[in-house]
Amino acid sequence: MTVSSTHSPGPAAGVREAADSGTDPVLKVRGLTRSYSGLRAVDDVSFEVEQGQVVTIIGPNGSGKTSTLNLITGLIRPDSGRIHLCGQRIDNTSVEAIAEAGIGRTFQNGRVFGNLSVADNVLVGMHSTLTASRPFARLARYPLLRWIPLLAETALALVPTPAVRREQRQARIRMEEELSRFGERLTPRQDNYTYTLSYANRRRTEIARALALRPRLLLLDEPTAGMNTTETAEVLEQLLELKRQGQTMLLIEHKLDLVMAVSDRVVVMDNGKVIADGPPRVVREDERVIEAYLGRRHARSDTATGAARPGTATPDGGPDSAVDAHDTADKAAATEERS
Ligand SMILES: Nc1ncnc2c1ncn2[C@@H]1O[C@H](COP(=O)(O)OP(=O)(O)OP(=O)(O)O)[C@@H](O)[C@H]1O
Ligand SMILES: [Mg+2]
Repeated sequence: MTVSSTHSPGPAAGVREAADSGTDPVLKVRGLTRSYSGLRAVDDVSFEVEQGQVVTIIGPNGSGKTSTLNLITGLIRPDSGRIHLCGQRIDNTSVEAIAEAGIGRTFQNGRVFGNLSVADNVLVGMHSTLTASRPFARLARYPLLRWIPLLAETALALVPTPAVRREQRQARIRMEEELSRFGERLTPRQDNYTYTLSYANRRRTEIARALALRPRLLLLDEPTAGMNTTETAEVLEQLLELKRQGQTMLLIEHKLDLVMAVSDRVVVMDNGKVIADGPPRVVREDERVIEAYLGRRHARSDTATGAARPGTATPDGGPDSAVDAHDTADKAAATEERS
């Protein structure tokens, strides 16, 4: 695998320069709306994430949290509304360009390449930062010319130049740094296939991969789903360490102790709308939040006993549908922990 530690110039460069000017919020979302067959999954959502802030979106199942993240990362297109990253509009560009512009993410149901090693999963995350190993990368956006960068990349993988080898060495050093964030959880397993790992270690690998991009903005969709109390406490420590290092983050999380400990601001969604946005302690006292979120959580214990709740699965079997079984059980377990 050929990777480098240097960000490529290209679509990302303008965004990264704008971010350095420090005048715009890292993320600005305005009037974001997206419907599925008449259901407004995301309904006129607006919020911002400032440099170095940790903002957490909370809300009941099906309230539109993951859809909001999918819109920000370009996985789905908004019906209306705008998204700016460091002052640059990104809602009209591709998933790849958004990643290159500096948004790294993890998925609610966890997505790692099971038949790649832990190390290779993280190295894949650095792919868009290649320079020497990806000559002509800019041509990849022109369908008729895509074969040129592909051929060049394959040739360099087979016969690496000294510059490519240097990139690979630097990338491995960075990959090891990212793994070492997780203490001894991943480093001794870096050559293992990820399908052999525990669920928690697969999620850690995914976070390491997102961080390998050195993202301007890190999006984590329920990073502790499926983790026990000890594992959740570990993730909290890692999030606090990232925050100390100045990493800007947008989280989705249900475990309120973690939310309160790590967030500068909490955005509460219900039925696709933002119903509250403010400091964690203020939001926690908000009547609408208690009614919409905390009140309804008691109903979740029903899901643990097998009762289905309408509207929690993605009807098209889309990216998040696979999560529901284990995830709902996890949320119910989390509810039990607190009660
Ligand atoms: N691909 C899709 N097709 C149709 N409906 C969808 C799709 N994705 C999401 N939805 C619906 O949109 C609504 C919002 O879903 P979303 O996954 O964003 O909620 P969420 O807040 O992340 O919920 P959870 O806490 O369960 O993860 C739900 O009613 C869901 O069923
Ligand atoms: Mg979700």
